[in-house]
Amino acid sequence: MLQNNVLVLVFLPLLATAPHAQPVDESCAPAACGSLTIKYPFWLRGRQPAYCGHPTFAVTCDGATPPSLNDSYLRVLAIHYGNSSVVAFHANLVDNPICVATRFNTSSTLALSLLAVSRANSELYFCKNCSRTPPTGSVAVNCTGLRGSSEWFLSLNRMYDPRGTARWPDEMVGCQYSVVPVMPGSELNTARDYAGLVRSGFLLEWTVPGDCAACDASGGQCRYDAGAMAFRCFCPGGRLQLATCGE
Ligand SMILES: *[C@@H]1O[C@H](CO)[C@@H](O)[C@H](O)[C@H]1NC(C)=O
Ligand SMILES: *[C@@H]1O[C@H](CO)[C@@H](O)[C@H](O)[C@H]1NC(C)=O
Ligand SMILES: *[C@@H]1O[C@H](CO)[C@@H](O)[C@H](O)[C@H]1NC(C)=O
Ligand SMILES: *[C@@H]1O[C@H](CO)[C@@H](O)[C@H](O)[C@H]1NC(C)=O
Ligand SMILES: *[C@@H]1O[C@H](CO)[C@@H](O)[C@H](O)[C@H]1NC(C)=O
Repeated sequence: MLQNNVLVLVFLPLLATAPHAQPVDESCAPAACGSLTIKYPFWLRGRQPAYCGHPTFAVTCDGATPPSLNDSYLRVLAIHYGNSSVVAFHANLVDNPICVATRFNTSSTLALSLLAVSRANSELYFCKNCSRTPPTGSVAVNCTGLRGSSEWFLSLNRMYDPRGTARWPDEMVGCQYSVVPVMPGSELNTARDYAGLVRSGFLLEWTVPGDCAACDASGGQCRYDAGAMAFRCFCPGGRLQLATCGE
């Protein structure tokens, strides 16, 4: 008899709290893709609901190649959530020989507006038909067979200007050229360094509306509301708040 009463007392608090406990919503829990951790504003297309991240930041993880971003030519190598930057390479540059790369500028083909090529990058120039001596440190690339001119030069510049033409180095005046961003601190000694340089990718920085860190800190989960096309903070009890759960 006494034993039964003790049991009732022990179980009462559990019975009392159970109906009020919120089921934890795990649908947007951080997910793995290879060595990458995918969380807001990124989300795993096909494995997570679209509200887990921003539409631009859909990651397609097929296991074979580094995952692509919104099914574009950008292949994600690393994500730095602390400073909102991504290391990605351009699939067309990596899959094609060096002389094909001379045909396009990476910055002008980047259309994902919430992601900008970081100014921290260095830049790799492909120049040809220079009316004067190519810059010091340039390496020659033999592109005989490519339509147009055959002798190209590769050159590395430690500054990157995403605005493009606003600030071309003086040395490039008088050359035809295209330019692609490469990681800060890249080294160019011979034309053979090219493949490694483009495969190492370059830095992109994102700016996405909504303060995900503040939402997290208030006990919420970051969401994207497709209807409103806006950031929302998903709070205990299932409420969607504009910024944080403290409201
Ligand atoms: C994602 O890719 C699709 C298909 O290329 C494109 O139409 C769309 O604009 C991209 N979305 C964003 C948000 O960049
Ligand atoms: C962000 O931080 C990572 C790791 O500390 C660093 O490697 C990267 O260069 C930083 N990104 C930018 C844009 O500075
Ligand atoms: C090389 O540049 C000159 C002028 O600087 C131009 O007339 C010529 O068409 C260019 N050649 C090629 C192959 O682009
Ligand atoms: C460039 O390559 C072509 C074809 O491979 C070759 O005939 C030519 O001699 C090379 N030119 C130089 C300067 O190495
Ligand atoms: C790359 O961009 C520069 C500046 O806009 C332009 O002058 C050049 O012709 C472009 N090169 C190619 C290959 O499109």
